[in-house]
Amino acid sequence: MKLQVFENYEQVSKHAAQILIEACRRQPQLVLGLATGSTPIGMYQEMIAAYQQGKVDFSRVTTFNLDEYYPIAPEHPQSFRRFMQEQLFDHVNINPEGIHFLCGTVQDIEQECRRYEEAIEAAGGIDIQVLGIGENGHIGFNEPGTPFHLGTHKVKLTETTIQANSRFFERMEDVPRFALTMGIRTIMHSRKLLLLANGEKKAAAIRAALNGPVTEDLPASVLQLHPDVTVIVDKAAAHLLEEVPDVL
Ligand code: PGA
Repeated sequence: MKLQVFENYEQVSKHAAQILIEACRRQPQLVLGLATGSTPIGMYQEMIAAYQQGKVDFSRVTTFNLDEYYPIAPEHPQSFRRFMQEQLFDHVNINPEGIHFLCGTVQDIEQECRRYEEAIEAAGGIDIQVLGIGENGHIGFNEPGTPFHLGTHKVKLTETTIQANSRFFERMEDVPRFALTMGIRTIMHSRKLLLLANGEKKAAAIRAALNGPVTEDLPASVLQLHPDVTVIVDKAAAHLLEEVPDVL
């Protein structure tokens, strides 16, 4: 596991974007796994800026997002699809046909999860998967206790997650109670993983994920078993680690 500590969120975002941009230059048909949440927004802004300056061409890139609420319409303002449109896809030249999402309106959930796994496989697997981390150590919507062997599946959101998500919805009853997510197995099959975290609120989860035992109680700890993980954090998220490397 490679750990890189930066001074602040801006540096984390710039560095993460640089890794994706360089990978895309080397391999224009890159398959990217993307994440929502507040953490990757700065990275997406850096990717947009690089595109606008003509420094990168995303036209042949394929993307798979980690998760989506269920049920939710793709055009709903709080859907993860809308989030990605607004934060990245509307501003760069990724071919819409190369963009993949779990569908939050399907009837047959098992079939939808199978379809997603097969689409990832048909694309040749994910080259780089971007991940955030929850304060409880979740990755994607894989909450503590999720078996490591699961592929893409439906999850019942915990009460605390529903409460946290409610800030984005007008009424409590509008907050989705479920989600579809890539499983730990899906994530671990990616060739390279990029875990981003910033801020004091993530410090305990980062310590547990990197220095603690590998356990389903702390989903991100499974990353210790992956052969190619880069963890990019700011000083605040790193400060509880047993050994903090020099700030870059
Ligand atoms: P955040 O969420 O980026 O909004 O902090 C990360 C996560 O919960 O996975």
